Amino acid sequence: MTKTVAVLVGSIREGSLNRKLAQALEKLAEGKLKFDHVRIDDLPFYNEDLWQDPPAAVSRFKDQVAGADAILIVSPEYNRTYPGILANAFEWGSRPSGKSVWARKPTAVTGTSPGAIGSAVGQAHLRGAVLNLATVPMHAPEAYIQWKPENFADDGSVTDESTRNFLQAYVDAFAKWIDKHQ
Ligand SMILES: Cc1cc2nc3c(=O)[nH]c(=O)nc-3n(C[C@H](O)[C@H](O)[C@H](O)COP(=O)(O)O)c2cc1C
Repeated sequence: MTKTVAVLVGSIREGSLNRKLAQALEKLAEGKLKFDHVRIDDLPFYNEDLWQDPPAAVSRFKDQVAGADAILIVSPEYNRTYPGILANAFEWGSRPSGKSVWARKPTAVTGTSPGAIGSAVGQAHLRGAVLNLATVPMHAPEAYIQWKPENFADDGSVTDESTRNFLQAYVDAFAKWIDKHQ
């Protein structure tokens, strides 16, 4: 059966390169994984008091992640770490205590940046975060993507052959990781 992957993108701007990378991965995963894009931009800042009457966005977010077989995070690096919007989503998903939606989910982390290291430092911090959330992170392969516009088409397909082969191998490894660890 096709596994469902909850996809969180760490950038909410229109034209996000990371969203484009997520779309490229989705195309490459067709027939193997179903991507379910999770909205995180309408979550309020984490506030323990709000559990008395949880906002609809929080309940929707938690249900969506809980219902997925696995998690994929595609994120830019912000100031050598990961964006605060992801930290906020992690916090909501991890509470109330004992009701985390992250625990035991096979998880992959990737990201892109126009910079030469392709979000590597941000991803290193993200790996620590998802480990602390008790997910089962895929250790390898890693995918640090330096964004080059000529490698991707507007429809989400990867036009550069070596980039396409690399990303295909990444998606295929994640599908196997999910089968093994779900
Ligand atoms: C607040 C902020 C901090 C950033 N810090 C880094 C950084 O540490 N390393 C890096 O490679 N790029 C950094 N960038 C550049 C982003 O990689 C670039 O804007 C990228 O396109 C953002 O991802 P997006 O296109 O998905 O929005 C930063 C951008 C912003 C807005």
